[in-house]
Amino acid sequence: MIRPAGITGIGVSLPDAVLTNSDLEKMVETSDEWIRTRTGISERRIAAPGKAASDLASEAALGAIASAGISPSDIDLIIVATVTPDMPFPATACIVQDKIGASRAAAFDLEAACSGFIYAMTVGAQFIETGMYETVLVIGSETLSRIINWKDRSTCVLMGDGAGAVVLQQVPEGYGLLGSYLGADGSGADLLKVPGGGSRCPASLESVVSGEHFLKMNGSEVFKFAVRIIGEAAERVLEKSGLTFADVDCYIPHQANYRIIEASARKFGLPMERVLVNIDRYGNTSAASIPIALFEGFQTGRISAGDIVLMVAFGGGLTWGASVMRWVKGVSN
Ligand code: UT7
Repeated sequence: MIRPAGITGIGVSLPDAVLTNSDLEKMVETSDEWIRTRTGISERRIAAPGKAASDLASEAALGAIASAGISPSDIDLIIVATVTPDMPFPATACIVQDKIGASRAAAFDLEAACSGFIYAMTVGAQFIETGMYETVLVIGSETLSRIINWKDRSTCVLMGDGAGAVVLQQVPEGYGLLGSYLGADGSGADLLKVPGGGSRCPASLESVVSGEHFLKMNGSEVFKFAVRIIGEAAERVLEKSGLTFADVDCYIPHQANYRIIEASARKFGLPMERVLVNIDRYGNTSAASIPIALFEGFQTGRISAGDIVLMVAFGGGLTWGASVMRWVKGVSN
């Protein structure tokens, strides 16, 4: 029998340091006006020197664990979604396991770029639905500032650092994750990537000098893909869950560009009051963007028990993923 799985705890980690558009004006040929009108971003957070993805992930994880009212030793599995792991291996999830003292937990990383959190939550939920595990910790954590070329204005103005974590457990029937839809199109792998440092282009003096270790993006092609896929993914997941856009209380799109967010909301017939937007304050935090927005939605009362929440992500791979859930946190069972 399938057991329903849902979010029973949620936490975030947002670095204190704020990098504003006017700070960026002093670093590259750009303007606050260009960044705000083309992307909707005003500022982003930057992890303190020496901080890595596992540091932000652990802080978010401890917040989620406290919010669920459990202890680290209750966790059976940790999945970290990230494109900025502490190092190629071991997995950042293993480092987090040690940092937070979740000594019973299995741990692995999952890489699906900006769709990473939706992928990881969908995977994590399976372990609860099948009865294999009781408590799964899913984290999206990014330190994108470490893979950005701060001389490339086409990418450096877009990204930010942060982490969001959720605890998944069995929830009452009708609550929690109602459906997910995942997809990928590897023919678009070149559109968004870090080419260097892997087995195709191992790190070398030459690879570093030519900047192969930095994030590269064909922004306009990714934009076109995002606009197309966000609608398809949302429609597919709602259909699978037996719901329509009219049922959606809260829509959480991946925070990559305000223009994409607004266009999708308009297409879905959703007023902006039902859309969570925080790209203005955090920029694009890749796998962390959806759990950070989810946390803020819950904290501010925009999401309350019983609400239908639609989450849609897209990103490098190319990948995409959508999930729909009936929010359970706050329901007494
Ligand atoms: O999370 C992963 C998924 N990622 C995304 O979804 C990102 C999707 N793409 C986008 O959001 C947009 O394509 C961008 C925000 C990246 C770029 O916006 P755009 O409206 O597509 O601009 P563009 O790339 O077509 O560039 C327009 C102009 C160019 O100048 P010319 O060639 O027209 O003279 C760029 O050189 O804007 C220039 N430009 C800038 N100007 C000032 C590019 N970056 C900047 C900048 N400041 N930071």
